[in-house]
Amino acid sequence: MHINEIAKLMVSNGKGILAADESTGTMTKRLAGVRVESNEKNRLAFRHALFTSNNINKYISGVILFDETIRQYKDGETVGEILNNQNILPGIKVDKGAKKLVGSDESITEGLDGLRERLKEYFDLGAKFAKWRGVYNIGTQFPSRNCIVANAHALARYAALVQEANMAPIVEPEVLMDGNHNIQKCYDVTSKVLEETVNQLRIAGINFSGMVLKPNMILNGNDSGLKNDKEQVAELTLKCIQNNLPTEMPGVAFLSGGQSEFEATENLNQINKQNKSSFAFTYSFGRALQQSALKTWAKNLSDIEAVQKVFDERSKMNSLAAKGEWSADLENAA
Ligand code: G3H
Repeated sequence: MHINEIAKLMVSNGKGILAADESTGTMTKRLAGVRVESNEKNRLAFRHALFTSNNINKYISGVILFDETIRQYKDGETVGEILNNQNILPGIKVDKGAKKLVGSDESITEGLDGLRERLKEYFDLGAKFAKWRGVYNIGTQFPSRNCIVANAHALARYAALVQEANMAPIVEPEVLMDGNHNIQKCYDVTSKVLEETVNQLRIAGINFSGMVLKPNMILNGNDSGLKNDKEQVAELTLKCIQNNLPTEMPGVAFLSGGQSEFEATENLNQINKQNKSSFAFTYSFGRALQQSALKTWAKNLSDIEAVQKVFDERSKMNSLAAKGEWSADLENAA
């Protein structure tokens, strides 16, 4: 499949992406939060439950996997095959995490060494797309120009290697919600981050039709005590993205970034209601697609059907939001 087709499929038809690519460390924290032991078997059991829910292929276009998961088997099939057989695109997180940036309390995402070889292996394991996340903090001194440029440069080098390997890159510059800043500050910082990211992608010769951007929504900081107004979130998020993104890009798949399931869905819906452009705005949620399902699973590890029902319902709400057709009443009825 051509990368332009892959990128388009990832964000089209009211479908979105399930980010199930938590590293073992992060997954261990998530499982500890619901008092479940983190081992290879349990990590696969929960993820396999999601990947085989009744309606996953109605709402999910692709799944981002972690290295451990793409190598796992269940009933004689690899996870990649399980997804491919349902017309769901398997994807792979290829960055090696955010590390300390020299001379600053900020971070730089690493993982470029040996990436060409790793991508070849992932392609052979069935991956159709990849993901790399850069992280930016908002603070009085942050993000520094060095942090913005260094992460944009790494994102661009990663994206070029992924396209060379015939896969579509998800480019994820995440401006964190942590902090007491207001929404305007988040807008200003995210604009600078997106501008430099696109600049570096251009320098690297990226085919914008064959990639997907995964940005944060524009929100007040978590510790600001300010309540987000959904119309304002949608207006500033759309403005920020439309001012910075090349129109050839098929669309945008937001991260949820620590918003509650309800907020993430409500804001995505509002963005689509106010969207007048040809960009598709959808989801690439981790926590906002998995939280309730994980809590349900923790109550009874063998009741897979209950987990799948909760996951399908959450995915359906987000799929409606990706078309601007969600409402809070539908949520309450569920
Ligand atoms: O890289 C981050 C994940 O893919 C998205 O996770 O929706 O929980 O922020 P999140």
